[in-house]
Parts: sequence; structure tokens; C-alpha cells
Amino acid sequence: MPHADSSLVPDEIQTKAQFWSHVYTQLEPLLDGQRNWVSNLANASSLIYNALLAFRTHFGPDPGRSVNWCGFYIDSACFPKSADSNVEGSRLLLGPFCGKPACQFINVTPGKARGVCADAFMHAKTKLVPDVDSYPGHIACDGETKSEIVCPLLNGNQVLGVLDLDCLAIGGFDEDDQKGLERITELVVTACDW
Ligand code: SME
Repeated sequence: MPHADSSLVPDEIQTKAQFWSHVYTQLEPLLDGQRNWVSNLANASSLIYNALLAFRTHFGPDPGRSVNWCGFYIDSACFPKSADSNVEGSRLLLGPFCGKPACQFINVTPGKARGVCADAFMHAKTKLVPDVDSYPGHIACDGETKSEIVCPLLNGNQVLGVLDLDCLAIGGFDEDDQKGLERITELVVTACDW
């Protein structure tokens, strides 16, 4: 199968639970034989984003206002030193993603951190945000975004970064998305060398 076809969604997939199970199954062979996290996160963000575009009639109340961003922010410690030398404190750097350009880094220094990604990273817990305008400290990379879900990348007790998805509709994500994405982040973490 050509790699691009892995993001197709068959007609029999009708629920979010089926959708995320399908994406997981499509992701496994894409990660097979590759341990580099840049390459794997690039294909993971592309697969999720493009599969969501194919499934958008089931995503959010209005298919025209569906998922608009899917990508990773990764602890700067995982990057080559030159990527983040001369910087005080801790931060996440923009990793592979699909969607419009986004902020390059997120401060995760205790006392200075803010935003959904920083909270998910620092608490090592998924953040499901139905309305970003009601979330204190939300960082608006795209003023059109209305809801968001951020899952931490957990490697035992270590948090490597986060997977972030944005939606143009209020309440775009629910617990089925959380379950599906948490399973996918587990797969991605174990498939890579960090
Ligand atoms: N909204 C995020 C910032 C990243 S963008 O959505 C791509 C936050 O509040 O951390």
C-alpha cells in the first residue's frame, strides 16, 4: 500500500472509538523499522491530521469547523544541544506537525509556565479543553481555534513532550478522543529512541 493511503478512512468506520482504533492500526506499520523520533512524529502527525480530515463529518458539530492543527511539542532536552543553547529555564520546542504555523516554543519553567501544553506536560495528564477562551493562560497560536486536547508523551515517570490537537468547533473533543490519543501516544513513545 502506498504510504499516503494509510490516512484513508473506510466507510464502515462510523464511531470515534472505531476511528482511533483504525488510526492506531495504520500507525503501527508506519513506525515499523524506524526509531528516529523526528521521522516517526512527522508521520504520526500527518496520519492523524489527514485521517481526521477524511473523518470530519463525524468530528465536531460542523464538518466545516473540524480539526485544524495536530502536532508535537517536545522537551528541548531531546533536541541536539545547539537547538536550545543560551536559554534559561525549561521549554518545549515545536516538533513535527500538520496545520498552520504555530509558536516555536512553550515555557515549562515552574512559576513561568502557562497554556494547555505546559499544563499537560507539567502535570503529566491529558487536558481536554472544550472552550479555549475559558481556559486561563491558553496560548492562541491560531485565533480561529475553539477547543483543544493535549496528551503528554509518557516514558515511565519521564514526560518527553505533548501531542496537541486543535479544533475549529467548541467541544470538538471528548473522552473517546482522549482514550484513542493516549493509546497512540504510548505507541509513538515506545516506537522511538529519545
Ligand atoms: N494552545 C496551546 C499552544 C500550542 S498551539 O495550540 C499549536 C497552548 O495553550 O499551550
